[in-house]
Amino acid sequence: MVRKERMSKKISFIGVGPGDPDLLTLKALKKIKSADIIIWTDSLIPEKILDFSKEGSEKIKTSSLTLEQITSVMIEKFHAGKTVIRLHDGDPCLFGAIREQIEILKKEKIGIEVVPGVSAFQVAAAYHETELTIPDITQTIILTRSDGRTAMPEKESLKDLAKHNSSLCLYLSARHVKKSQETLLEFYPPDTKVIVGFRVSWDDGWTSLIDLKDMEKFSTEKKLIRTTIYIISPAISNFQNRSNLYNPSYKHLFRNK
Ligand SMILES: C[S@@+](CC[C@H](N)C(=O)[O-])C[C@H]1O[C@@H](n2cnc3c(N)ncnc32)[C@H](O)[C@@H]1O
Repeated sequence: MVRKERMSKKISFIGVGPGDPDLLTLKALKKIKSADIIIWTDSLIPEKILDFSKEGSEKIKTSSLTLEQITSVMIEKFHAGKTVIRLHDGDPCLFGAIREQIEILKKEKIGIEVVPGVSAFQVAAAYHETELTIPDITQTIILTRSDGRTAMPEKESLKDLAKHNSSLCLYLSARHVKKSQETLLEFYPPDTKVIVGFRVSWDDGWTSLIDLKDMEKFSTEKKLIRTTIYIISPAISNFQNRSNLYNPSYKHLFRNK
C-alpha cells in the first residue's frame, strides 16, 4: 500500500477531460477556481476550461516548454507560496507524461496529488451510445497508440494487440492511419465499426461512425492529423448479446429469487 505523504500544500495534476467544461469533475473545478498558477497543456485543452479560474491567476502554456522549464516554474511558484495546478487533457494517467514531472517535484520534497479526468475514448463511446464490453463478443478494452515517433514496445505491436479482436482505442495515431488500417484488417472484418472522434466535445469537434475498411480514406478526406481518437470494436454493431447482470435467469447476491 502506498503511504500518502501528509503535506498540507501540494501541486495538483488535474485531468480536465476531453474539452467540454461540463465534463470536469467537481474536484477539478474546485481546484481550478482556487489556483493562483495554472500550468496547462494548451495544445490539447480548450481555453474555455480556464474561464473558471479566479481573477488575477497566472496561466502558463506548456506547448513550447521543456520538462525542465515546466517543472522549474512549478517549483519556483510553489516555493513562493502560490497554489499551483497542472492541467492535463483527459485523464493524466494516459499518455500524460506526468511521471517525469512528479519525479522531479518529489526530489524537491514537494507533495503532489493526481485528480483523475474523463478520457477521450469514454466520451467518444458515450456520444455513440456504445458499450465496448459485450458478453461473448469482447470483455476487453485496449487503450494504445500506433508506432510513431514514440516507438511501441515490441511485444505490444498493433499486430499483437489486434489479434485479440477486442475493443481497441487508438490514441495519437491519426498520422499513421494507413499502416494501422492495414494491420487491423488482418484481424478484424472490413465492416467492423470504427468511431472516429476529432476534438471530441470541443465546440468544433465531431464524431463519426465508419467501417474499418474506410478508416484511412475518411481520415485523409477529413485531414486528420491530431486530437483524433479511433475506437475499433466488434461490440459497436452488436445488438444481439445481452449481459447476465439483468437477465431474469441469472441469480446473484442482490437478486436471488
Ligand atoms: C497526449 S494524449 C493524452 C490523452 C489524454 N490523457 C486522455 O486521457 O484522453 C493526446 C491524444 O489523446 C486523444 N485526445 C485527447 N483529447 C481528445 C479529444 N477531445 N478528441 C479526440 N481525441 C482526443 C488524441 O488521440 C490525442 O492525440
